[in-house]
Amino acid sequence: MALNVRAPDPATPLKVGVLISGRGSNLQALIDACRDDAMPAQIVAVISNNAEAAGLGRARQAGIPTHIVNQQDFADRASFDTVLDRALRDAGANFVCLAGFMRLLTRDFVTAWRDRMINIHPSLLPAFPGLDTHARVLAAGAKFAGCSVHFVRFETDTGPIIVQAAVPVRADDTPDALAARVLEAEHRAYPLALRLVAEGRVRVVDERAIVDARPPAPEFILNPPEA
Ligand code: GRF
Repeated sequence: MALNVRAPDPATPLKVGVLISGRGSNLQALIDACRDDAMPAQIVAVISNNAEAAGLGRARQAGIPTHIVNQQDFADRASFDTVLDRALRDAGANFVCLAGFMRLLTRDFVTAWRDRMINIHPSLLPAFPGLDTHARVLAAGAKFAGCSVHFVRFETDTGPIIVQAAVPVRADDTPDALAARVLEAEHRAYPLALRLVAEGRVRVVDERAIVDARPPAPEFILNPPEA
């Protein structure tokens, strides 16, 4: 079955709620991208499970309403997710971007936002899901690292992949150096993925994201230079 993720009405911008837990550099990339009049998406709320998240300041700076849903206030995941869901809907969100949101979501929440929630992960999925990605990439001796933007499914870091960016792994890389290189790619990949969805160019078919109007890509890339 083919599901068009977004009703093709580019005149009505997507109303995006962004969930964060920390620094918010990907949030910033999304904020900057949404400043473009040609971007059919608008960030209507930034919600954090951490009152200290630096990203909240970025949202306030941009005049975007912020909300804190503190996990310590809830007895279990289900009640936390119910309040999160309500905060998103009260803000008028019809789409969710996870941007460094460090909390597992319940199956009910993920189902409620199926094909209307995307995440960015700092690896070329399905390789290296989970935490400590960059150290594991280096330990494995991979020649490329990268990032993936994907629709969210219940299993962590799974779901149809919309956009990926690859970066070389250098011989003298540390996890931090590699993370910084990947992060730069993330800041390009996440706005691109949001734009493609908002423009109605993404369909999910048999659990794969089919994207119209992909930019031309080379047939293959042989090993990157090592230094
Ligand atoms: C990014 O590396 C993202 O891929 C991962 O968490 C990190 C968040 O960074 N999911 P920031 O808060 O967007 O700066």
